[in-house]
Amino acid sequence: MSLKDLLKGKLPQEKLTLLPGGFEVIGEIGIINIPSALDDEKYLIAQALASHRKDIRTVLRKVDKLKGEKRIGEFELLLGNTTGTLHRENGCIFQVDIAKTYFSGKLAFERNRISESAKDGENILVLFCGVGPFLIPIKKRRNVNITGLDNNPDACALFRKNAELNNIGADIILGDANLMADLFKKPFDRIVMPAPYSQDHFLMLACPILKSGGTIHFYTFKKDFEIPHFKRLLEEKGWHIDFYRDCGGVAPRVKRYVFDMQRR
Ligand SMILES: C[S@@+](CC[C@H](N)C(=O)[O-])C[C@H]1O[C@@H](n2cnc3c(N)ncnc32)[C@H](O)[C@@H]1O
Repeated sequence: MSLKDLLKGKLPQEKLTLLPGGFEVIGEIGIINIPSALDDEKYLIAQALASHRKDIRTVLRKVDKLKGEKRIGEFELLLGNTTGTLHRENGCIFQVDIAKTYFSGKLAFERNRISESAKDGENILVLFCGVGPFLIPIKKRRNVNITGLDNNPDACALFRKNAELNNIGADIILGDANLMADLFKKPFDRIVMPAPYSQDHFLMLACPILKSGGTIHFYTFKKDFEIPHFKRLLEEKGWHIDFYRDCGGVAPRVKRYVFDMQRR
């Protein structure tokens, strides 16, 4: 049921049309974008959401876009008293704190896809690993060595907790991906790069730490019309593209794309 359906009869028609089309749920937290024209109705909206979805105990209003390297948004607490929650995804459990680390359930399909393509025996690196949602499902399914790198201490601390919660072992490194060539001396069979917005330069930095014949899963943000040119550029730079797909919109006309590639 949409927010509009939930609030029919409780808000006048002109206010109903201002409600957002959807909301995101992470664990017991519901996240909504409420426009400033609905400031006076924000608690009513939060209550309506929580009474419809019994699993929601906290409602956060997104008040700013994701910002800075950590990709953390700013939120107003409308209901409940915590920004931390337990979230289940791909058969794993994750402690997340929306106010301290990036987390979005929108990549759940991708994380499952990558964990299915990994093979036993591989050494796998996930750059920009956050609280571990790419790495933990891989390690649960495959007999692999995994390493995660993130420069947010809160993300690394939560990743350590999540490794324990899911009974897996992982090397979790707090560090800057700009220094990856110095940090890792042995090359990896597979590198996953859910890179932050507009940070394509990290791809070339990963070349020296990818084994010959190894696979990279590179995430980037592009408009549809930019893709043919971007593909040509990758091929000119020596990448063989096995597969690519659109993983959904992130801003007006801008989508997240993933490229699975090997070095020629
Ligand atoms: C888009 S989030 C992805 C997080 C995680 N992979 C996920 O799917 O939930 C990007 C992550 O990159 C980290 N990050 C940003 N710049 C970094 C850098 N220069 N070195 C290491 N980590 C970085 C942020 O702290 C954040 O956790």
